[in-house]
Amino acid sequence: MLPILSLCSLISLSTFVLSCPGHIGHGHANIQTASPPRKLALTDVRIFNGHGLSAPTTIVISGSHITDNIKDAEHFNASGHVLLPGLIDSHVHPTNITHLQQLARWGVTTGMTMACFSAAQCASLQNHTGLTNVFRSSAPAAAPGSAHGNLTSFVDHTGVLLVHNSSDAVRWTQLQMQSRPDYIKLIAEAPGLSQDTLNALVIESHSFGKKVVCHAATFSAYSQAVTAGVDQIHHSPLDKPITCTIAEEIKKNGRAVVPTLAIMKAIADTQSSTSSFNASLATAAELRRKRVPILAGTDANLQPGIVATVPFGTSLHEELELLVEAGLSSVEALRAATVEPARVWGLEDRGVVKVGMRADLVLVKGDPVRDVRESRNVKKVWIGGVEVEGVGA
Ligand SMILES: *[C@@H]1O[C@H](CO)[C@@H](O)[C@H](O)[C@H]1NC(C)=O
Ligand SMILES: *[C@@H]1O[C@H](CO)[C@@H](O)[C@H](O)[C@H]1NC(C)=O
Ligand SMILES: *[C@@H]1O[C@H](CO)[C@@H](O)[C@H](O)[C@H]1NC(C)=O
Ligand SMILES: *[C@@H]1O[C@H](CO)[C@@H](O)[C@H](O)[C@H]1NC(C)=O
Ligand SMILES: *[C@@H]1O[C@H](CO)[C@@H](O)[C@H](O)[C@H]1NC(C)=O
Ligand SMILES: *[C@@H]1O[C@H](CO)[C@@H](O)[C@H](O)[C@H]1NC(C)=O
Ligand SMILES: [Zn+2]
Repeated sequence: MLPILSLCSLISLSTFVLSCPGHIGHGHANIQTASPPRKLALTDVRIFNGHGLSAPTTIVISGSHITDNIKDAEHFNASGHVLLPGLIDSHVHPTNITHLQQLARWGVTTGMTMACFSAAQCASLQNHTGLTNVFRSSAPAAAPGSAHGNLTSFVDHTGVLLVHNSSDAVRWTQLQMQSRPDYIKLIAEAPGLSQDTLNALVIESHSFGKKVVCHAATFSAYSQAVTAGVDQIHHSPLDKPITCTIAEEIKKNGRAVVPTLAIMKAIADTQSSTSSFNASLATAAELRRKRVPILAGTDANLQPGIVATVPFGTSLHEELELLVEAGLSSVEALRAATVEPARVWGLEDRGVVKVGMRADLVLVKGDPVRDVRESRNVKKVWIGGVEVEGVGA
């Protein structure tokens, strides 16, 4: 998001980037003393299958995956509950294990981190048994002197993370590839990277087979991101809604959008004179009308001083509600946190409840298809077959 640089934000950002040195290099450590995954049959449970709810059925968790072999399984009567695929938050900024625990306890089993200034810091949050699975972005590509570029300059005094011009795109992308990110993050803003530079960064990233996601929080930034051919646009403008033509172009080019309504609303609440959350809602509505794939992402972060904080975990449920407020059906909102992100991010082992998939599961009381607010009634969560403790708190 648009950083507002204050002394407070600078101090907290340095903590953000430099904290937890103890974790770096210990990415495989198990934080919780999780009991070994057992074989468990959930009986009489209705499953969200991407279109609605199944008739009551049985699902068996065996080790880290879903199986159809019920032999020797313990039984758990899940009558009156709905089983969702583990929820995917497509835009998060966790910086420590507590943040992952908060995500996990609210059923967010996968998170896409969005600004890895330090690859090692982001990697320290990966591969923790029984905790939210996180994927890693590159550093955000920003121009010197831009709002995001100034943030980058604060955390990296060498200047190597900034992109100066289109000729600099090759060097920057090669540098990022050394830390093996899962995807590349670009920033479209004004003042900021030129159209030529954005275009060049997309071409370079694609030449390495990487997907490109682009921050675009204003009307003009959206146009730049569309023109550059990024794979995903994140945020939704608070200045004015995108046009029907832009939405059509996004659809035609096969792109996806993560409107991050939770943070747009939080920002609008603090800057009511200059921005309107209605514009964000109208953008999401227009994207839906044009059948653009929409993914649920929150921009969850607890960095005071950088625009607005958004809590981990609970915010994904708020995002589902806001997507419904924008006009999505509850099924479409639930798809935006399950089936759609799994497809768009290429995560073939999750996003649906099916034999052979990872046992990333969320058991909720009630019926979130009838009323999406019921997704908050989280009773049990499994990540890779490991049951999460302290759910819904
Ligand atoms: C499961 O629980 C429901 C509701 O409490 C109950 O009606 C049903 O008989 C139980 N099923 C079994 C097999 O115990
Ligand atoms: C993680 O950061 C939060 C502040 O966002 C802090 O309250 C919490 O104690 C930290 N947890 C760890 C394990 O450092
Ligand atoms: C996480 O685990 C995967 C698969 O075991 C491995 O390829 C990857 O390098 C690990 N990443 C980190 C940061 O430990
Ligand atoms: C970035 O920092 C420079 C130097 O302090 C300042 O002149 C410029 O206005 C800042 N850029 C933005 C967009 O705030
Ligand atoms: C691009 O930026 C680099 C680094 O500042 C500079 O050395 C180079 O001359 C610039 N190239 C062009 C074409 O402006
Ligand atoms: C936002 O939309 C609502 C309902 O359409 C309307 O009542 C409200 O005045 C709008 N707010 C702004 C700031 O435009
Ligand atoms: Zn963000």
